[in-house]
Order: sequence, then C-alpha cells, then structure tokens
Amino acid sequence: MVIIIRIDVYHIIRKNLTVQLAVVICGTRLQEGLMMLKSAAVFTLTKLHFHVFAEDHLHIPIRQRLNEISVISQNTITYDVLPIKFPKDNADIWKKLFKPCSCQRLFLPYLLKKTDSLIYLDTDILFMRPPEDLWNFFNKFNATQLVAVSPEGEDIRTSWYNKFAQHPYYGKLGINSDVILMNLTRMRKANWNDKVTKVYQKYRSSIVLGDQDILNAIFHFHPEMVYVLTCAWNYRPDHCRYGRNDCKHAYKNGVSLLHGDRQTFHKNDFPSFRIVYEVIQNYDFKTGVTRGIYNPLKRILPMVQKSYCSRIWESMIMILKRYRREHKL
Ligand SMILES: *[C@@H]1O[C@H](CO)[C@@H](O)[C@H](O)[C@H]1NC(C)=O
Ligand SMILES: *[C@@H]1O[C@H](CO)[C@@H](O)[C@H](O)[C@H]1NC(C)=O
Ligand SMILES: *[C@@H]1O[C@H](CO)[C@@H](O)[C@H](O)[C@H]1NC(C)=O
Repeated sequence: MVIIIRIDVYHIIRKNLTVQLAVVICGTRLQEGLMMLKSAAVFTLTKLHFHVFAEDHLHIPIRQRLNEISVISQNTITYDVLPIKFPKDNADIWKKLFKPCSCQRLFLPYLLKKTDSLIYLDTDILFMRPPEDLWNFFNKFNATQLVAVSPEGEDIRTSWYNKFAQHPYYGKLGINSDVILMNLTRMRKANWNDKVTKVYQKYRSSIVLGDQDILNAIFHFHPEMVYVLTCAWNYRPDHCRYGRNDCKHAYKNGVSLLHGDRQTFHKNDFPSFRIVYEVIQNYDFKTGVTRGIYNPLKRILPMVQKSYCSRIWESMIMILKRYRREHKL
C-alpha cells in the first residue's frame, strides 16, 4: 500500500534522478551501516544507488539485506558491494596510515572512475528526510566547488581545530569529514590524489584525526573548492550538550541528518539519539512513515528524562512532520 504511494509520488516529483550514496563498512559497524542505508531508503522518493565498500567477510550479509530493501523498493534502489581498496601507486602507505577503512573515502574519485558524483556518509548517520534534499546542494555549487561539508563546530572558542590542531585547517572552525558531497569528476580534474599525497607528506607528524585532518589541510589551501552545509546536515551530540556550540539552524528548521558519533546510537548517555536509531531499526516498510516512525517518535521522545539533548526532540521530528504532510505519507 505504502509502496504504491511512494512510487506515485516519485513519478510525479523527480522523474529521472538517481541519488548515489557511498559508505565504508568494517568490523563491528555492519548493523549501523545498514541502518544508515535503510534510513535513506525509508525517506526517498526517487531512485537510489548505494556504493558499499566493505571487508570481504561482510559482503554476504550486506548483499542479503540490501537485496531485501531493493525488492521492497521495486528495484528503484540498486547497489554495489565492493572490497576495501587503495590506489595502486602508494597502496602500502595508505594501508599503514590510520585505519584502512576510514581513509578509504579519500580515494573514492579513483575507485569509482565512472561515477560523476556521490554523497559519502559514515555508518553512524541517519537520514531524517529524503536524501535527494541533500543531493540538491550539488545544484548550488559554483564553478570551483567540488565538495560540500559541515563545520566541525559552531563556536570558535571551543572548537577542536582552533584549540588543538598543529596543521592548517579549513576556515575558522575546520570541517567534519563524516558527510561529504563529492563531485568526483571535478576532484579527478583537480588531481585529487596528488593533493592528498602532498598534504600527507607535509603534515604527517601532526595529523591526529586521520582523513579529516588531510581534508582540512587541503581545503585550507583551496577554500574555493568548498560549499559549506549547515550543522543541521551533520547534527551531533556536541550540538546540544554544551550551550555554546548549539546548532541554531536545527532548532529553527529541524535536524536533517542525525550523526551519532562516538557510539551515541548504542549508548544511554543521549537517549534521544538512541531512540531514533531504534525506531528506524524496528521500522517495517509496510507500516508507512507516519505510523511507523513519526508517531512513535512523537510519543516516545518527549518522555525521555531530562538529560543531554533531550530538549531538542521537536527539532528531531520537525522535518518529518512537514514531509509527511506534503507527501501524505
Ligand atoms: C534518465 O537517466 C538515464 C541514466 O542517467 C539516461 O540514460 C536517460 O537518458 C534519462 N532519461 C531522461 C528522460 O532524461
Ligand atoms: C560535477 O561536475 C561536472 C564538471 O563540472 C559537471 O558536469 C557535473 O554536472 C557535476 N555533477 C553534479 C551532480 O552536479
Ligand atoms: C565559489 O564559492 C567559494 C566559497 O564561497 C569561493 O571561495 C569561490 O571563489 C567561488 N568560486 C567562484 C568561481 O565564484
């Protein structure tokens, strides 16, 4: 029933768009990574393609689950499951640098040579609205922008980069590398791999946060390449636990992407984050977004005991409320 509504709306609104998402799934992140992709599938009204890089032993369970999602979507959702790989030139350096899985994102322009653009997301992220709304930012890029990212913080005095970084970083606050819109065509044209290698060689001794520091150093020297998204597109516990760093965009317009970094979705410190994860985990596509997600969240979130971030529950469901009304879901 719900599926029929989804397909109808899809034909009316967005005839020929395929939103491409990329994720890297390693170790214990299997369920979480699948949940991120599920959240995209839940809210989309268009076609999706998932590029899933994963350790070999995870390929079978990933394929099984994505196949189910693909069937539910009547094949409007497709996917590739790919091995963790590095560019041949200096594969050894990269494998030894940080955790192989986290720096994989730096090499997407060369691992997916036929893909024009994609949105890279970490596993600990949940869509709270259709992924095509995020994709639309590609249309806002000017001639030099090739990525879109959110700032690492909102407050200069407390920002991590301002306080601790020993290497150059983007702007005043640095950027967070866990959600990145990438125009791969433009990154290839800009000799992306050379930029990564040069920055790594120059600053290797002061790099602490791995790939994120490398990106910050590159964009320090190339601010013209960056489109800055608001914090509502990368909403983390840090945006509600300290007053100073609050994400004002999200209070006003709602949380677009919920980012449960540092295992927040699986711990009790920030119950509102965990509850959203669990509701999406338990969601059955047949139920529909209103009954299966919006109503339970509206009921449960306000009951959370006074704790960090519990007061922002209305922002968490604000966009869902609007979306549900607009699309009669
Ligand atoms: C839809 O997209 C596909 C693949 O990107 C393309 O080949 C096709 O020409 C497009 N169709 C229309 C009607 O734009
Ligand atoms: C990416 O950049 C290329 C080259 O400028 C452009 O042709 C393409 O349309 C862009 N992709 C998106 C999704 O905006
Ligand atoms: C695109 O926007 C960025 C950031 O605002 C800016 O630095 C850059 O100069 C702009 N590029 C062009 C060609 O206008």
